Amino acid sequence: MKLLITGGAGFIGSAAVRCAVALGHEVLNVDALTYAGDLATVSSVENSALYRFARLDITDLSSLRHAVRDFGPDAILHFAAETHVDRSIDDPTGFVQTNVVGTTNLLDAALHFYSEISGSKKANFRFISVSTDEVYGSLGSDGYFNETLPYDPSSPYSASKAAADHMCKAWYRTYGLPVIVTNCSNNFGPYQHPEKLIPTVVQAALEGSDIPVYGTGLNVRDWLYVDDHINAIFSILVHGQPGDTYCVGGNCEKTNLDIVSEICEILDRRFKKPSGDGFSSQIVMVQDRLGHDFRYAIDNSKLVELTGWKTSKTFLERLGETVDWFVDHRDWLSKHEGRLGLGNKNT
Ligand SMILES: NC(=O)c1ccc[n+]([C@@H]2O[C@H](COP(=O)([O-])OP(=O)(O)OC[C@H]3O[C@@H](n4cnc5c(N)ncnc54)[C@H](O)[C@@H]3O)[C@@H](O)[C@H]2O)c1
Repeated sequence: MKLLITGGAGFIGSAAVRCAVALGHEVLNVDALTYAGDLATVSSVENSALYRFARLDITDLSSLRHAVRDFGPDAILHFAAETHVDRSIDDPTGFVQTNVVGTTNLLDAALHFYSEISGSKKANFRFISVSTDEVYGSLGSDGYFNETLPYDPSSPYSASKAAADHMCKAWYRTYGLPVIVTNCSNNFGPYQHPEKLIPTVVQAALEGSDIPVYGTGLNVRDWLYVDDHINAIFSILVHGQPGDTYCVGGNCEKTNLDIVSEICEILDRRFKKPSGDGFSSQIVMVQDRLGHDFRYAIDNSKLVELTGWKTSKTFLERLGETVDWFVDHRDWLSKHEGRLGLGNKNT
């Protein structure tokens, strides 16, 4: 297939690019290379004949239309976004530009292209927009998000993603563009930007600094290994119904304090501090995030029934591999400016 992947220099999009090339698909990676984008994430495929890169801002409609038409994709996988909740609280308008206007532009460019194709190319064309479970708001101590729940976003980030999802549905219902929306839980894995929870904790621990945890640390997130997420997206590409939504979650609820403590234990097994203390002695509770959602948890049964999807290893195995990756790639941690130092990622 020819796959146009947006945000393919970011954390999840780059995993999609690497996976797509490995599967033999032809890829055009469209990315503006914001502070969150880094082509090092796709260096393993940069010399492949199957791979091309276009530095392009999805808020630029005319360039986007040209890129889509010139490449002629069989599917568009849309990952590009502003993604950090804390940044959205400080500067919401940039989130509206990329997440709402940018997504709308991409839908527009896709529809222009879709209206010009025919036959099996048209019948099989898909536009998958990758969104977040945060559009559903916050759960109490029980219950799960599923595809039937009304949207109830809390942060400017989740509100902008919710607006983008509504645009996707509108492009399906109004124009018949075969759009599918996926709403996933917290991803983790290699190449995640150091402003997010797991890399922040590893970096702070290794620097000997405070490891910051918001509020009580009891907020719950449902964790999903990034390559498992990409497997789900590829299954949805094949089996998903246009106009439909699929929730993708790893069935792995953890409090933020659990995650931070587990990372500290993994590091304790690898490093002995001269003081003899464990890394958890560096944990410091800091003032809670504004509008901090209490719990996210996904009921993924629709996805599982459709595709038979399941995670490939246990959470602790994947967390261990991820922590090892950050320890072995400390240049990745130190290279990226913009780490906010408040250790709770909510996307
Ligand atoms: N990371 C998570 O846990 C998570 C959870 C749920 C949903 N999501 C969604 O998955 C997608 C990917 O998230 P991520 O964590 O990989 O994000 P990321 O911040 O790591 O990467 C975002 C990428 O988008 C690019 N980008 C930003 N603005 C752009 C613009 N205007 N034009 C073109 N490119 C632009 C950046 O350069 C970067 O490469 C996002 O849509 C996000 O909302 C992420």
